[in-house]
Parts: sequence; C-alpha cells; structure tokens
Amino acid sequence: MTRLAIIGTGYVGLTTGACFAHLGHDVVCADIDPVKIERLNRGEIPIVEHRLGELVEEGLRKGNLRFVLGAAAAVVDCEIAFLCVPTPQGDDGSADLSYVEAAAIQIAGVLPYEAIVVNKSTVPVGSTKVVERVLKRPDVRVVSNPEFLREGSAVDDFLKPDRVVVGCDDRAAAIAVGALYDKVRAQIIVTDPASAETIKYAANAFLATKLSFINAIAAICEGVGADVNDVVVGMGYDKRIGTEFLRPGPGWGGSCFPKDSRALLKIANEAGYHFDLLSGVIAVNDEQFDRVTDKIRVAAGGSLDEKVIGVWGLTFKARTDDLRDSPSISIIRRLLDAGATVQAFDPTVVAMKPGVPAGITVATDGYSAATGADVLAVLTEWDDFRWLEPVQVAAAMRGRQVVDGRNLLDRTAWQKAGFVHTGIGR
Ligand SMILES: NC(=O)c1ccc[n+]([C@@H]2O[C@H](COP(=O)([O-])OP(=O)(O)OC[C@H]3O[C@@H](n4cnc5c(N)ncnc54)[C@H](O)[C@@H]3O)[C@@H](O)[C@H]2O)c1
Repeated sequence: MTRLAIIGTGYVGLTTGACFAHLGHDVVCADIDPVKIERLNRGEIPIVEHRLGELVEEGLRKGNLRFVLGAAAAVVDCEIAFLCVPTPQGDDGSADLSYVEAAAIQIAGVLPYEAIVVNKSTVPVGSTKVVERVLKRPDVRVVSNPEFLREGSAVDDFLKPDRVVVGCDDRAAAIAVGALYDKVRAQIIVTDPASAETIKYAANAFLATKLSFINAIAAICEGVGADVNDVVVGMGYDKRIGTEFLRPGPGWGGSCFPKDSRALLKIANEAGYHFDLLSGVIAVNDEQFDRVTDKIRVAAGGSLDEKVIGVWGLTFKARTDDLRDSPSISIIRRLLDAGATVQAFDPTVVAMKPGVPAGITVATDGYSAATGADVLAVLTEWDDFRWLEPVQVAAAMRGRQVVDGRNLLDRTAWQKAGFVHTGIGR
C-alpha cells in the first residue's frame, strides 16, 4: 500500500484515484473546484464514466479514498503525487503547460522529503525536466507515466491496460511507480522520460491517422460505388491491420486527439521535421466535418437556410458526457452558420450546458429531436439510437431524409419506413 496524491479530478485524475484506491493504495485526490470536491465527498460523480461511481463509493466506504481542496493539502503525507491536470492547446498549437507548472508550484514546498512526482497529464517532450525545474527540489524525482485510457471505458482501461509506460532516468523511482500497478496484469515498459512522452503523442497521432485514413477511403468508396463497411471487414482480417479505429464517421474529436495532434506537429517542427503526414491527417479530418455537413445540405434539398435539422448525438463519442471538440458540435456550428434550425438529443445532455452551441434546442428524447425536421442526422454512435423506431420517427418528421454519420442505423429498416438513408462511404 502506497500513500498517493492525485492532483486534478477530471476524467483521468478521478479514474486514476478511484482505481488506485480499488487496488489497495491510500489515495487523496485534490481539485481546485470546491463544488466538485464537495460533490465527490458525498459520493456524487461529476462525469459520466462506467463503473467510476461504484469505485468511488467503495473507496469512500473503506476510507482509503479522500477528496480535498487544493493540491498542497493532498500531498502533505504522500509518497507519490500524480499530476492529472489539463494541458489544453495553446495559442500557437503547442500544449499549454501552465496548469502543470501551477500545480508543481503549489506542491513544491509541501512535498515530503524524497517524494516522487508523476506526470500523467499528456505533456510535450521535455516536460519532466520542466517540472523538475519548477519544483526546485533536488530530493524529489519526476517520472513520466502517460495515460492511455479511453473515456467511456476509462475504469476498465485503467485496470486492464494494454501496457503501462514509465519514463524516468532514476531506476528506483521507475520501480516505485511501476510497483503501484502490481495488481494490474500489464506489460510495464520503462524508458527515458523523452521516449515516454513521445509514446503518448505517437500513439494518439497514429490512432487519428487510422481514422482519417478510413474516412478518406470512405470518400473513395462513395466515388467508385464500394461499401466502406465491407472494405473494413476485408482489410481487418489482415492481422497486421485489424479493424480497431477503422470505423468511418463524421471526423474525430474529443479532448485529446485534436490538441495532441497539433502539439505533436509543433514538437516535430521544433525538432526540425516537417510532419506533412500528420498535417494531412488533420486536414482530412477538417474536410470530413465539411463533407458530412454537405451530405446534410444535399439531403435538405441543396440549401440549409430555414431548414430544420434533427441531430442525434452531441458528445464526441458514445458512453461519455464529454463535449470537448466534439465532431457533432463542429458540424452543428456549420449547420447554424448556413441558416438551419437545429434540435438535438443526446442521452447525457438534458438541458443547455457549457459546450452546447447557443441557438440550438436541446430535446429530451430522439423522437422530439426529429419532430418537424426536414433531415435527421446521426452524429454520435450511441447504441440507444439503433433501437428508436423508424416508423415513429417518420411520423414525427416533415422530411424523409436521414444522414447516418456513423453508419449506425439498420439501413434496410429505415428505407422500409420510407427514408432516403445516406451513410458514410456506402
Ligand atoms: N480525457 C482523456 O480521455 C485523457 C486520456 C489520456 C490522457 N489525458 C490527458 O490527461 C490530462 C487531464 O485530462 P482530463 O481529461 O482528465 O482533464 P479534465 O479537464 O477533465 O480534468 C482536469 C482537472 O484538473 C483540475 N485542476 C486544474 N488545475 C489544478 C490544480 N492546480 N490543482 C488541482 N486540480 C486542478 C481541474 O479543475 C479539473 O477538474 C490532460 O493532459 C489530457 O490530455 C486525457
């Protein structure tokens, strides 16, 4: 059992804290948001994340998971402190390290002698050294331990990771951090800090590349009369390729890929390499938002002006409530700019909240979002949408057009109900 402090209780920090407590460690989590801390102490989970509530409740009940206000209060008695604070995109595309630096300053004078500080935030190469410089504590070792969890399955990903990466020049510190994961059956990869930091960016850029690649292939499929779903199956049986992250869609988004791919471009530039491949991946993604908007425009009869568009899905993917850089929101903004009225439904969005574009109506269910609509657009792959009745949707709508931006719906059933079904790459 190790005494841990977790700084930041967002998607990564809260999952990390709750899972380490579940694994038997003694965990104190901190945030700067007093409302969040109050809610967490009552066992209320501020985000939608499968199994997280259960683990937080378990930790609170057993007494080995606590929540405090402010980083300094969390680290007073810790052996290892994890930084899980945001690293948003800065003005020039690079990762903004100000939250990481602020957290390091807050804990510098309070950390016990010879504690270890772990960077779990996604940070540019060299950030381990930045934290060391800010801490000004020669007795404290700084370790990079990037996180690879996916929102929607964060707890399972944390407890059953494909691998754990630990980047540190100090062998004893690397062993101490690796040992925290003893009960997790995973390959532990120990590297130098720069390699650990690069692994995280390279992995995200590669996944974004796969998604842009299949969206580009989908565009070709539309031109040549092929079906991208069949193409993916045919490609995926090749073990060197697989089917993961080869689902065509409205473009990729979320809190990580957009900022991390731009940050890697910046890192590459500074390293003297023009990463044209990654620039292309980003360009294909921006085009995809336009392509899907165009599909909706065509379905609406050539103009979006004064058309009513029902939208199913606001989050950047299913099983999360995260709206950050959601492709759905990018497309909705384009619809609004073109003069459309948008009424949207998402299982996790019950009313207007930060991140939802002003000027849209938030519907309470899928049928209400479709009521009076000229076109229905499916923009997030929530399983719930599969089970809505096309006949009932048709009765509610003014038009008979559905643009299925996730190839989610049963095309035959929707066509039977009288819809013109437009998918991606088929
Ligand atoms: N969300 C993901 O799926 C994911 C996956 C892997 C890695 N990451 C990376 O992990 C990091 C955190 O991401 P996130 O999605 O959890 O962010 P988030 O915005 O959900 O949460 C960050 C939390 O940190 C708190 N915070 C900020 N400064 C603080 C301070 N000084 N002391 C205490 N708390 C502070 C904020 O109030 C917030 O609650 C980012 O670098 C991100 O790129 C995210």
